[in-house]
Amino acid sequence: MSGLSNIKVNGETNGNGNASHKNTLTVTDNRTGKTVEIKIDADYVINATDLKKLTLGKEDKNGIMVFDPAFMNTAVATSKITLVDGEKGELRYRGYKIEDLVENCSFLEVAYLLINGELPTNKQLNDWENKVMRHTYIHENLVEQMKTFRYDAHPMGMLISSVAALSTFYEEANPALKGPDLYRNQNLRNKQIFRILGKLPTIAACAYRHRIGRPYNSPVNHLNYTENFLYMMDRLSESDYRPHPRLAKALDICFILHADHEMNCSTAAMRHVGSSLVDPYTAVACAAGALYGPLHGGANEGVLHMLEEIKDVSNIPQFLKDVKAKKRKLMGFGHRIYKNYDPRATILKKVAADVFDLCGRTPLYEIAVELEAQALKDEYFVTRLLFPNVDFYSGLIYQAMGFPTDMFPVLFSIPRAAGWLAHWIEMLDDPSLKIFRPRQKYVGETDKEFVPLSERIEEPKTPNLPMYYSAYGVRRSVTHKWKMEQQHLKENGGEVMNFSERVYDHE
Ligand code: CMC
Repeated sequence: MSGLSNIKVNGETNGNGNASHKNTLTVTDNRTGKTVEIKIDADYVINATDLKKLTLGKEDKNGIMVFDPAFMNTAVATSKITLVDGEKGELRYRGYKIEDLVENCSFLEVAYLLINGELPTNKQLNDWENKVMRHTYIHENLVEQMKTFRYDAHPMGMLISSVAALSTFYEEANPALKGPDLYRNQNLRNKQIFRILGKLPTIAACAYRHRIGRPYNSPVNHLNYTENFLYMMDRLSESDYRPHPRLAKALDICFILHADHEMNCSTAAMRHVGSSLVDPYTAVACAAGALYGPLHGGANEGVLHMLEEIKDVSNIPQFLKDVKAKKRKLMGFGHRIYKNYDPRATILKKVAADVFDLCGRTPLYEIAVELEAQALKDEYFVTRLLFPNVDFYSGLIYQAMGFPTDMFPVLFSIPRAAGWLAHWIEMLDDPSLKIFRPRQKYVGETDKEFVPLSERIEEPKTPNLPMYYSAYGVRRSVTHKWKMEQQHLKENGGEVMNFSERVYDHE
C-alpha cells in the first residue's frame, strides 16, 4: 500500500513534459478537500512529515503516514560518504572512483578517507596507520573469553559477541556510565575508532584459530594492516613469518571494495542502534549481526554452493533454463541498485586471476566465467538488467586463498567496520540527529475485556507452541512422565492419573 499513490504533481510542463515551474507537490486530500504544497528538494526528495498536515482532525491527530516496510523508497539520512550510481554502474567513496582508490590506496588509507572525509597527507596517513596498529592487542580477559567458545563455534558468532564484549573493557567509553553526551568529545570518538579498526582483525584471527585448534597469535606492528591479519591467522612457530605480498595485496583490495556501500542493511542497522547513543562497540556488534544474514553478507557462500552443484560447464544450459523457469536463482547476479555491471565485480574478476595464478585455479572458476558469459547473452538477464554483483567472484577468491566459507562474512565485516564508523560519525555530527523510531500500522484488536486465568476455560485461542525435541529431550521427558505417574499412583491410592491435565514436553 502506498500513501503517495494519489499524489498529483502541480506545475505545468514547458511543452517537453520534463520541466515544472515549481519544485513542489500539491497534494489534495479528497476526504476533506484540503490541499497542501510540499517542497521537492534538489535531490527529488520530499519530507515525509509534511504529509502529517493532512489530517481528519480529532480522528487521526497524527495525519497521513507513509507505509514502506523494507525502506524501498525511504531515505533515512543525508550522507556525503558513498555514492552508488546504479544506472552507470559506478561506485564512489567521498567522490573518488572506486577504481582509482583500488589502484592507488591501501585499505587503511581508504578507511581514513571514509571516516575523515578527505584523503590523508603522507604524515596524516603515517599517524593514522601507527594509531590503528597500536590498538591491535585485545585484553587478555577477552582472549580467555574467546577460548571458552565451543570448538566448532561459527566465527561470525564469535566476532559479534567479542565485539560486543569489548564495550565492557572501556568504562570511559560507555555512555551508560558517563552520560549521553559522551560522544560529543572527538578525542574519545577517535580512540574508539582506533580500537575497533585495530582489534577487529585480531578478534577475527582468534576466531579462526579457535576453529582450527591452534594457539592464538599476538598481533605485530611491523607488518601492514592486512599482512598482520594474515600473519595472525597463519603463523605457526616461525619468528619471521610474513604472508605472501600478492595475497596480502589481493585481500587489501577486497577490503577496499567491501569498505562501504551506502545505506545497506548493516549500515542502516549501525545508524539505527547508534541513534540511541549507545557505545560504538555495541552498535558495531549489531551491524555485524545484520551483515551475518544470508541475504546480505552470506550471498558469496551461496555462489560457491551453486557452482559446486552445477559441477560441469556442460550443465550450465540446463541450470539457466531452471533459473528462467523461476525454479532457481542465479546467485551473485542482480542488485537492488545496480542495473549495470557492479564495478566491484569487474575489479574482483582481475583479482581472482591473480590469486589463481598464485594459489592454483579452482575448477569452479571455469564454470563461473562460462556461466557469466552465457547469462550475459541471454535475453532473460539482458532485459532484466541482471549483471554479476560483488559476490559472484569474491567467494571464489576467498576459497582459492584457503579461507573456509564460514569466514567469508568475517572477511566482509572487518573492512565494513570502516563504513559503519564513518556513518556513525556522520550521524553524531548531524545537528538534526534524533533517535530512530519508525511508526507502525496497527492492525490488531482494540478494547478487549480482560479474562482472569481461572476463567479461561474455553478452547485455547492460541495453538500449543510447536518446536522440535532432541533425542536427549525426549528421553528426559518420558522419564519425567513416568516419575509423575509413580508419584500420582502413590498419592492417590492407585487411582490412574488423567493425563489430559498435563501436557508433556515432547508430545
Ligand atoms: N536470478 C534470477 N532471476 C533474478 C535474479 C537472480 N539472481 N535477480 C533478480 N531476478 C529477476 C527476478 O526474478 C525478477 O524477475 P521478474 O521481473 O520476472 O519477476 C527481476 O529479476 C527483478 O528482480 P527483483 O527480485 O525485483 O530484484 P530485487 O532488487 O528485489 O532483488 C537481489 C535484488 C540482489 C535480492 C536479487 O537480484 C537476488 O536475489 N540476487 C541473488 C542473490 C545475490 O546475489 N545477492 C547479493 C546482492 S549484492 C551484496 C549485498 O548487497 O549484500
